[in-house]
Amino acid sequence: MDRIVIKGGRPLKGEIPISGAKNACLPIMTATLLTDRTCTLRGVPELMDVRTMARLLAHLGVEVTPEMARAETVTFKDGNLSTVEAPYELVKTMRASVLVLGPLVARHRRARVSLPGGCAIGARPINLHLKGLAAMGATIELEEGYVVASARRLKGADFTFDQVTVTGTENLVMAAVLARGETVLRNAAREPEVADLCRVLIRMGARIEGLDTDTLTIEGVDQLEGFDYRVMPDRIETGTYLAAAAITGSRLSLTKARPETLGAVLAKFREAGVVLKTGPDRLEIDARQGGLRAVDCTTAPYPGFPTDMQAQLMAAVSLAQGTSVIKESIFENRFMHVQELARLGADIQVDGNRAVVRGVAHLSGAPVMATDLRASACLIVAGLAARGETTIRRVYHLDRGYERIVRKLSAAGAEIRREKDK
Ligand code: EPZ
Repeated sequence: MDRIVIKGGRPLKGEIPISGAKNACLPIMTATLLTDRTCTLRGVPELMDVRTMARLLAHLGVEVTPEMARAETVTFKDGNLSTVEAPYELVKTMRASVLVLGPLVARHRRARVSLPGGCAIGARPINLHLKGLAAMGATIELEEGYVVASARRLKGADFTFDQVTVTGTENLVMAAVLARGETVLRNAAREPEVADLCRVLIRMGARIEGLDTDTLTIEGVDQLEGFDYRVMPDRIETGTYLAAAAITGSRLSLTKARPETLGAVLAKFREAGVVLKTGPDRLEIDARQGGLRAVDCTTAPYPGFPTDMQAQLMAAVSLAQGTSVIKESIFENRFMHVQELARLGADIQVDGNRAVVRGVAHLSGAPVMATDLRASACLIVAGLAARGETTIRRVYHLDRGYERIVRKLSAAGAEIRREKDK
């Protein structure tokens, strides 16, 4: 296993380029199961989750070139599906594997997908995915830890989600595009990654209305073409580097970004005193005015403040003047980074889904442990500002969702390195 070592206290400068969005890439990759035509996806980030999804698609019989999607441009060709099963060994490493469910049932009439099991940040069931597929006429059976979904042909349905679910919305959109008749999805997720998937499906010939709203109307078609598409920039990666610039009092430009997908995050950091200027594909950050102001925040489905930015904001306000109250409303256990931040000297009290963060004068470097993808990112953000050396272990969590983060931060002036964990 590797670890990351940071010598904190240095400001960042210059530019950091943003990579393609992990959470748009993953559903778009499963959309290739909906057609036998060649699909080309550009701007693909080199991430462990992308490689895992490529491995799953190859297991199902899709020809992925280059193998393991190890390139910025990846093509997918339907190579006669050899199985419709997503095995536990793969699903347990990446819950987004459940995104093959909708496409497999829609075009191959059957899917056998391992239930994802629990995860560090919460139970994260997929009951709403299954309820929606059943509403569209699929037979759903549970056997030996697998969901078996089947339908001769799905039929359109008017379905309301009991609660907002990002991959639940994505699974049902992909099921609906080849169903017979019209599907209306209400209380659908409005995350930009859902709209990015819908844009790809429309380019394939799907008929979808209501992008970026909470009601998606899909008129089923009989078959879909391939696509050639560039994935949107990663808004959570963008927000993570914004938090890093804020906590280190830096002036930094983020390029190849799409700041309009981060409205709530930009507003929150402006409230904390960071000066932000946005261009069509860049975010100019100036946090040199010294000292962040404390801010309160509650995570919410888009366009609210994203749960995937909660840990990074908490790291930034741990040095703010005043007390911040952060509420996590999406997942039931997404405060595991609190104890690690406390090891760096942060003063945080957790009470249920609320964290009260009293700003301290400084953080001090120490050995800490990454527990999940965004918690790892928050420890890097804190380590960049902490006095002395911070060592972060189990950084494989980071590799799931941040492309070349050590190289990007080094190029922007951080004293950061990755090494074998002795
Ligand atoms: C997506 O996960 C993202 N992953 C997550 O990003 C993100 O944190 C999450 O959305 C919320 O924004 C991908 O897009 C691949 P949900 P997803 O279904 O779809 C409950 C990251 O860091 N729920 O929107 O799995 C669920 O338990 C990852 O990149 C049900 O109860 O999240 C949760 O409390 C982490 N039943 C809430 O809804 C269901 O059938 C939101 O979950 C589905 C969800």
